[in-house]
Amino acid sequence: MTTTISIDGAAELLRPPTDGLSYLRHNRAGELRLDPSSIAIADGRIAGFERDDGAAVRIDATGCAVIPGLVDCHTHLPFAGWRAEEYELKVTGVAYEEIARRGGGIAASARAFAEASDGEVLAQARSLVAEMLACGTTAFEGKTGYGLSVDAEARAVRLGRELGADRVTGLFAHAVPDGYDADAWMNEVDALAAACEVDALDIYVESVAFANEHLERLGAIAAREGVALRAHVEQFNANRSVPVALAAGARSVDHLACLHPDDIAPLAAAECAAVLLPGAELMSAERTPPARELADAGAICALATDCNPGTSPIVSLPLIVGLAVRRYGWTALEALLACTLNAAWVLGLSGELGSLEVGKRADVVLLDEPISHVPYRFGRNPVCVVVRRGEVAWVRPDAAGRVSA
Ligand code: NIG
Ligand code: FE
Repeated sequence: MTTTISIDGAAELLRPPTDGLSYLRHNRAGELRLDPSSIAIADGRIAGFERDDGAAVRIDATGCAVIPGLVDCHTHLPFAGWRAEEYELKVTGVAYEEIARRGGGIAASARAFAEASDGEVLAQARSLVAEMLACGTTAFEGKTGYGLSVDAEARAVRLGRELGADRVTGLFAHAVPDGYDADAWMNEVDALAAACEVDALDIYVESVAFANEHLERLGAIAAREGVALRAHVEQFNANRSVPVALAAGARSVDHLACLHPDDIAPLAAAECAAVLLPGAELMSAERTPPARELADAGAICALATDCNPGTSPIVSLPLIVGLAVRRYGWTALEALLACTLNAAWVLGLSGELGSLEVGKRADVVLLDEPISHVPYRFGRNPVCVVVRRGEVAWVRPDAAGRVSA
């Protein structure tokens, strides 16, 4: 059964400069349009930008901004448990790499994942997905990476699918499991990539994890499997991984806190997204990537929560928008572009999601304030109604009066 919905009288409605764009380079973010408008939805799709007086459901958007459903293009869902004790170590001065060497970090989450039943893992992840929805996220990517064995990584793929992640990424090369060196584990990564149904492959390049040569090898595996290559790079140290990722045809390079200045121009010119993760930067006291420079140089920038138990236990993209605007010197529109159309492109879903266009999937979010307030009223969740796949999926209790059926 499908519903017709009319969202009436928004003060601001965010739209791309023209329809049909796969992404918008950040030096063009100022071309995004923000006009008063209504929006009509039918059969799960955006039907037009006028009121539909015959619609079964009416949503009063007076005083609201209407934006596309937010797309979280980098999360580590599903995972088991949390690591709050490490956060205390971290803020009192122990480095992330040192925590990892002591058996904490990714290995600690792998132990928790092994000890939790499928039901327990899914219950925790589903409650996080519900929190994400209430913050406006209507599509998300999830990664494996807390398995650290062949069987457990395959289990993580299966649970990611069961969770309903819009994209499941095999982060098989996240940490080197006990009993392996990095080269030997890459042989298992190769076999996992061939055996598992994933939408992308990812790798963590860092002194405590994998090296550029492994990134290069993963690029060849991704090309063979016909899936996107993504990479966690330049998070805590500069390893000059970006040229390697670009040569390997990566769809995205993620983190970039320690991006080398010489790598800004080639990245900005490439058809490869710079996925920036200011939540992890804040929580892990990382450096700040040259995000203003990347945007000015015309990079395809994206933002995500990086939701994970180690570096970013954050689910809210409005919070990430606030952080990005403050840390990067970005406008609110630049930050919203980065977690809508460009984030959808990172996932290969921008033909379907990420902007308000006739025919696209009707994932639509009402904010109870103008867009300029999203970063300014930092930490507040402005999301009051969420429509996902053409159905009302969340109504904040105090906004119930806006929706009539
Ligand atoms: O994106 N740095 C590598 N991976 C994750 C953190 C994983 C963890 O600490 O559990 C990240 O920050
Ligand atoms: Fe990550």
